[in-house]
Amino acid sequence: MDTILVLDFGGQYCHLISRRIRDLSVYAEILPHDTDLDKIEKISPKGIIFSGGPDSVYEPNSPKVKKDVFEFILKKKIPLLGICYGHHLIIQLLGGKIEPHERKEYGRTTLNVLHADSLFQSLDSEETVWMSHGDQIRQLPKGFKILATTDTCPIAAYENKDQSIFGVQFHPEVVHTLKGPVILENFISTIAQCKKEWKLGNWIENTINWIKQKVGPKNRVILGVSGGVDSSVTAILLHKALNDRLHCIFVNNGLLRKNEAEEVQERFKKKLGFKNFHYIDAEDFFLNKLKNIEDPEEKRKIIGHSFIELFEQTTKELEQLYPDIKFLAQGTIYPDRVETAATSKVAAKIKSHHNVTLPSNMKLELLEPLKDLYKDEVRKIGLKLGLDEELINRHPFPGPGLAVRCLGAVDKHKLDTLREADHILIEEIKKAGLYNELWQIFCVFIPVKTVGIMGDYRTYENICSIRAVQSKDAMTANFAKLDWELLDKIATRIINEVKGFNRVLYDITNKPPGTIEYE
Ligand code: XMP
Repeated sequence: MDTILVLDFGGQYCHLISRRIRDLSVYAEILPHDTDLDKIEKISPKGIIFSGGPDSVYEPNSPKVKKDVFEFILKKKIPLLGICYGHHLIIQLLGGKIEPHERKEYGRTTLNVLHADSLFQSLDSEETVWMSHGDQIRQLPKGFKILATTDTCPIAAYENKDQSIFGVQFHPEVVHTLKGPVILENFISTIAQCKKEWKLGNWIENTINWIKQKVGPKNRVILGVSGGVDSSVTAILLHKALNDRLHCIFVNNGLLRKNEAEEVQERFKKKLGFKNFHYIDAEDFFLNKLKNIEDPEEKRKIIGHSFIELFEQTTKELEQLYPDIKFLAQGTIYPDRVETAATSKVAAKIKSHHNVTLPSNMKLELLEPLKDLYKDEVRKIGLKLGLDEELINRHPFPGPGLAVRCLGAVDKHKLDTLREADHILIEEIKKAGLYNELWQIFCVFIPVKTVGIMGDYRTYENICSIRAVQSKDAMTANFAKLDWELLDKIATRIINEVKGFNRVLYDITNKPPGTIEYE
């Protein structure tokens, strides 16, 4: 398939570049900036994009592309587009000059387009673009032409038509650059001449065939299902390809939301007719291990390890019954993989996030049908496969479940209290038609007792905090400005209906400095 390769120089918008290109029906893939030549040759990209990045190209340890890779691009005349840092790097590598500028340019800027052809075909003479840079090109190498300027940036875009090299100082991938999609379309279609082969409809058919071929006519596959979008879509694809040769394992760790265990089973067993759906009620197992554990990291670790232990044990039992089990499927999606391989130095560990990767000593071959998809693509595929919208649009729910929303040591009583309050909250938010407008909304159990009054009685109960955020990608988030009347209704219901809470707080912390979850 025709592919555009995005080399990652640490830019926060790297995924956005690749997503925008896929939205234009061309497959895009991200690799680290220092990827070896043989890997790039194997992909044989029709075009390459050097992403933006936080560094300055003249700093000694700034990220570079491998020398032989750059020579290969030049020799083969593979169309090349540099964005921001990438725009500078190309020029530096070819002998031009980059310097810091006394004024940083950040935000919306007017671009004066000097040549409305090739990369800028069908642009107007003035366009709004999004800038974020402190460095500038001072001098272009020979053979380069300036395509656009801004008031403070005399070389805001360039081209070298002979070499098929282009650069833009601004970010065509962000929505504030209004003609960004036109510029990317010009690059992938007119310049790199990619065929539009990335269509999700074809993807489903191809993937089902791929699974059938890979697994063969006899072998069986094991898949852990959580009830979330990724593992559900993986399950349905595998089921379509293999039918009852798919064995799903669904673990109730006692940290799920109200009715969740029943709903997930109902969906897979009854609605979708999965025969080999193995439900494991492990509430006691998990809660025993979590008894008196207060430290959040410790809680996360125990939950992760306990899950692996159970999963391994169940797999062994199933392997005894079905010796043809040869594959382990996972709902890994593209950002999971690319983040794991991230080159950037930024990843300071804040929480030991993320769902356990299963142990490498399992002798099963890994199957990851969603590994090249973004979340929104997974959602679209899910809808095409007939999954209900309610599941598709479900808010993210952390792997360690309610344990990270029930502060301090967890026990069944606290969890049940939290489940009841959370259920009321979600019910009211859905009734108000706001669920799909929020990234997440949930209750948190704060085990601090305060005094209240109910009727004629004094109460002494715990605090329920409501966390509601809006976000695009969970990297940053703003607390949602919910209506007072609605909050009033929710708080009143929680206090009246849930024994164990007598006070409700609304969390008005943004991320950063807060995180979305409490632990
Ligand atoms: P934080 O709390 O770091 O969360 O702002 C960012 C996003 O990640 C989700 N989250 C998790 N998801 N396993 C997950 O699958 C985890 O351990 C985990 N911890 C946090 C969180 O719900 C939010 O969407």
